[in-house]
Amino acid sequence: MPIRIPRPWELPESAVTDETIVLSRRRLLAGAGALGAAAAMGGWMPRGRAAEEVAYPFPRNPAYEGGRPLTPEGKVTTYNNFYEFGSHKKIWKAAQRLSTGGWEITIDGMVEKEQTIDVDDLLARMPREERIYRHRCVEAWSMVVPWSGFPLAALIDYARPLSGATYVRFETFLKPHIAPGQKQTWFPWPFTEGLTIPEARNELAFVATGLFGKPLENQNGAPIRLVVPWKYGFKSIKSIVRITFTDQQPKTFWNTINNRLYGFWANVNPDVPFPDWSQAEERVLGTDEKVPTQIYNGYGEQVAGLYKGLDEGRTIFF
Ligand code: MTE
Repeated sequence: MPIRIPRPWELPESAVTDETIVLSRRRLLAGAGALGAAAAMGGWMPRGRAAEEVAYPFPRNPAYEGGRPLTPEGKVTTYNNFYEFGSHKKIWKAAQRLSTGGWEITIDGMVEKEQTIDVDDLLARMPREERIYRHRCVEAWSMVVPWSGFPLAALIDYARPLSGATYVRFETFLKPHIAPGQKQTWFPWPFTEGLTIPEARNELAFVATGLFGKPLENQNGAPIRLVVPWKYGFKSIKSIVRITFTDQQPKTFWNTINNRLYGFWANVNPDVPFPDWSQAEERVLGTDEKVPTQIYNGYGEQVAGLYKGLDEGRTIFF
């Protein structure tokens, strides 16, 4: 992301556990967590069902296709933005230091009842599916990804917000001891993002727990992240620990850094350039191709209605 800051501290590779060990550990944890959740929920879920309930891959929802070939998995898992682990693309090894076992999410603010829930418990309660979405970064690259997860609307129903809540705010973990980027105190940690409630209830807004039919890798936002494909990628916050309902527009990480470049809305728009580059085209990761960028990343049919009656000029994009 284009900001003028000193170069980051980078984790030496020697400090990172071998990724094959960590990745297989993570899958074990995912399975163990599912079984634990099953035990905890014996009252409402048929015995023995929970293990299959969280089995990947989730059923594909054919309503959501990428319209282009999938980006190679190896590219999606090794070319990442996750500033907690460094402001460069090769953070995937450093991200293995994040331990995602026993991950809890707090749901608070303007809700009927604040609560903290284990991520596997939450997942077991949600209607799970796989969707293929296009993903467009504000840096003018894009990819096509099969996400596993559930509609954000289902989580909102589960959270039972009060009628006065107009926004939902998301927050990532704060663990500077394992996330070197968070030692860079000029950033407004923790990473936060936000949506209006109508945006969050839009059919496209998705909560991902998996990628390519497996649990998310750390570098892609394990164990749970947002995916809002009509907005620039920075809105799709990773590794969420808190979801807060509020009647105030949330301050967001990038918006706090530079509200002229990174607006709250951040809807993909080929006609609004960045100061240093055009947004008219995008580099398709894993290919040599550049393709024209589409308004709302091509999802106008589903989302344009959200912005009717609002300022149709720059505001809804930034
Ligand atoms: N979430 C957190 N917590 N920290 C980040 O730095 N980067 C964002 C978004 N979510 C980011 C984040 C940006 S700029 C993009 S483009 C996407 O994650 C990248 O997701 P990917 O690495 O899975 O492709």
